[in-house]
Amino acid sequence: MIIKLSPDLKKEEIYANGNELANIMGMDRERGRRVLDYPMEKKVFVHSFNNPVLLTDNYRISQLNPSLRDTIFSLFSSRLRIVEYDGVGTIDDGTYKSVWCPSIDTILFALALKRLFRKRENFHRAVEIGTGSGFLSKYALAKNKHIGSILVNDLNPFAIKCAMNNIHDKRVVFYQGDGIEKIKEDKYDLIMCNPPYIPRPDSIDDNPYEGVSLLYNLVHNGHSYLNKNGILIVNISSLCAHILFKRKPKMKMTVLAKLKVPLKVNNVMNNKEWLRYLTGKKIIKKKFNRGYEYWQELKIVSFENI
Ligand SMILES: C[S@@+](CC[C@H](N)C(=O)[O-])C[C@H]1O[C@@H](n2cnc3c(N)ncnc32)[C@H](O)[C@@H]1O
Repeated sequence: MIIKLSPDLKKEEIYANGNELANIMGMDRERGRRVLDYPMEKKVFVHSFNNPVLLTDNYRISQLNPSLRDTIFSLFSSRLRIVEYDGVGTIDDGTYKSVWCPSIDTILFALALKRLFRKRENFHRAVEIGTGSGFLSKYALAKNKHIGSILVNDLNPFAIKCAMNNIHDKRVVFYQGDGIEKIKEDKYDLIMCNPPYIPRPDSIDDNPYEGVSLLYNLVHNGHSYLNKNGILIVNISSLCAHILFKRKPKMKMTVLAKLKVPLKVNNVMNNKEWLRYLTGKKIIKKKFNRGYEYWQELKIVSFENI
């Protein structure tokens, strides 16, 4: 399937492609012959949602007529998924387990990069910490020809393999390991990070869904990893802002994009102890709205030296 987001993030379009056209969309005959497969490039529009707050919005899908609802659920369960935003796409073929594939956070971050590059383009040395599928690095490379090199990093070896599969650009150096340890070795014009942001006591730092130590380090020490006019850009959720801003950051902060979205992370919602911690600390509060019990606000924020 293909999930395509409009450049202003106001519309999400769903397409079926490849063998889904025969298997799901009923296109199983061509000039009297049975068709089992189609090229990946062949796609058919299925449905669109206005103002998406999730890429997989099960609640909104469940409100559709039964045939369309079941078609879209079938497409979401198919193995191959392409996410496209503003002419840039990455593929998730299900091979790379535990890799964070583009989500609403990722696309909001790409929208913020678009806004940043409109104001300023001259970022020569770049780094992305925690690349997941590689979407944001690929997007930055496609939209900013001034980038001379980008270090594409993740702790997770499967993420690096997935990013290598998605990005083919001579300007990239891939690095698997702790991003903070690595960036201490150099200075950058642009540091990008869509980090884990859900607070959890005693967090395990290599789990992509938890802990805020990476974000805390970047917000408070980022200035020492940047060149003089460098910019750090991160995603800050309302779930962790109170932890981050107990101390005032040394850098000037600008909000580039923001969006209220449901908190839809199954391994948090299904972990009673973790959920109790988040509700007990009043980090999240149950309030049913548009199909979801818990919501957060995401802000994509840039930091620069004062
Ligand atoms: C929320 S996911 C974001 C993935 C991707 N950038 C995106 O926006 O779709 C966070 C990623 O950070 C990685 N990560 C967490 N801590 C890290 C660290 N200290 N160094 C490098 N990567 C880290 C995780 O493995 C995960 O892939």
